[in-house]
Amino acid sequence: MPHNGTDIAAPTVAVVYHSGFGHTSTLADAVAAGAGDAGADVTVIHVETMTEHDFDVLDNVDAMIFGSPTYMGNVSAGFQAFAEKTGRRCMEGRWRDKVAAGFTNSGAKSGDKLATLNSLAIFAAQHHMHWVNLGLGAGWNSSASSEHDLNRLGFWLGAAAATDVDAGPDQVHPADVQTCHHLGHRVALVTRQLNIGRTFSPAASAPAAWWAPAR
Ligand SMILES: Cc1cc2nc3c(=O)[nH]c(=O)nc-3n(C[C@H](O)[C@H](O)[C@H](O)COP(=O)(O)O)c2cc1C
Repeated sequence: MPHNGTDIAAPTVAVVYHSGFGHTSTLADAVAAGAGDAGADVTVIHVETMTEHDFDVLDNVDAMIFGSPTYMGNVSAGFQAFAEKTGRRCMEGRWRDKVAAGFTNSGAKSGDKLATLNSLAIFAAQHHMHWVNLGLGAGWNSSASSEHDLNRLGFWLGAAAATDVDAGPDQVHPADVQTCHHLGHRVALVTRQLNIGRTFSPAASAPAAWWAPAR
């Protein structure tokens, strides 16, 4: 039966992030705007101020987009503290088959950010979530390109930004903001497609994710 998806509810997307100094917050807002522009119902959650209600929100969304600054070559302690609080949910498989994606920001152009995106993707995989990549080719990689290209830093796993360490949160590079907007938009569209598919073929349900001690 053909299906144009018009009767499918807006996908629900949560942007769940940590930011020590506000730069990753700027990117989180861009991710949220992108998802909203694609028709998603978006909730933005800073992990340091999140409540039990926010965890309930996460249990019920279709997709989560994780964001963390890169600190010492990995996710920040603030993000990891959040991740470790999800151990029981992971064990119970509560986020299984939700959509996930990620973004990060660092001072250096590379800054070992790939390790952060890897950590976010592994976190999602431990929850048995479906990781969505950035979906853009590399920008700023030829004589005809520039630092104003989308995906100017050339990442595929997620969205990556570089912000001078002496710049304010309002000075995050516009191309990085746009790249994050793109990620949010893409995740909302993929989630909607998945939701439409699930009206015909429900998400697989299966065993709890793993054996961690209950917390
Ligand atoms: C404790 C700490 C560790 C950092 N480690 C890195 C790093 O490994 N690589 C890098 O390029 N920048 C590093 N930075 C710079 C931050 O990634 C950068 O300032 C970023 O914009 C901070 O984002 P936020 O304002 O959202 O916290 C570090 C900053 C701090 C405070």
